[in-house]
Amino acid sequence: MESFNRELTAECNQLREYDAAGRRWSAKHYRGGYTSYASLNRLHQFSSTFAKLEGWLDAHVRRFSAQLDLDLRGRRIHLTDLWVNIMPEHTAHGLHLHPLSFISGTYYVATPRGSPGLKFEDPRLSRFMAAPPRKSPARPANQIYVTYPARAGDVILFESWLRHEVAANPTTAERISVSFNYNWT
Ligand code: NI
Repeated sequence: MESFNRELTAECNQLREYDAAGRRWSAKHYRGGYTSYASLNRLHQFSSTFAKLEGWLDAHVRRFSAQLDLDLRGRRIHLTDLWVNIMPEHTAHGLHLHPLSFISGTYYVATPRGSPGLKFEDPRLSRFMAAPPRKSPARPANQIYVTYPARAGDVILFESWLRHEVAANPTTAERISVSFNYNWT
């Protein structure tokens, strides 16, 4: 896994060098960082390294779909978009969700010690009408935000409607990840 991540790190850095359109888009929408989200977002179709990752992700997404009791008999799941994110010090990614897919996720390539995890927002937030504040600490299922640590070699999957964000990277090293969306037909 470590040698695979080294290979991926090198490819991610090459993409940033090569992808001028992505750098321009990132300057506006991903301040200080680089993402190929809007420019090179089908990397699994162009690189054998990312295609290999796709094979592993397919298996994880199938297992996750089974856990969710999704009825996919006679259907096919497929990776639609896969893109790179490089977060240097101070770069953050605000709350968002992933429309037009059913399962999304992130694979972690380089996660310097102290770099931020993936923070999820409780989807019930807008319906806690007259609810008192929560104790701190509260059980994870009762917390408004839950953060999963980002660890190189791990993948985190979630249903695409779930809003999430990444806090600013407080470390001086770059945090690198590959995010993706799955759809079904
Ligand atoms: Ni996201």
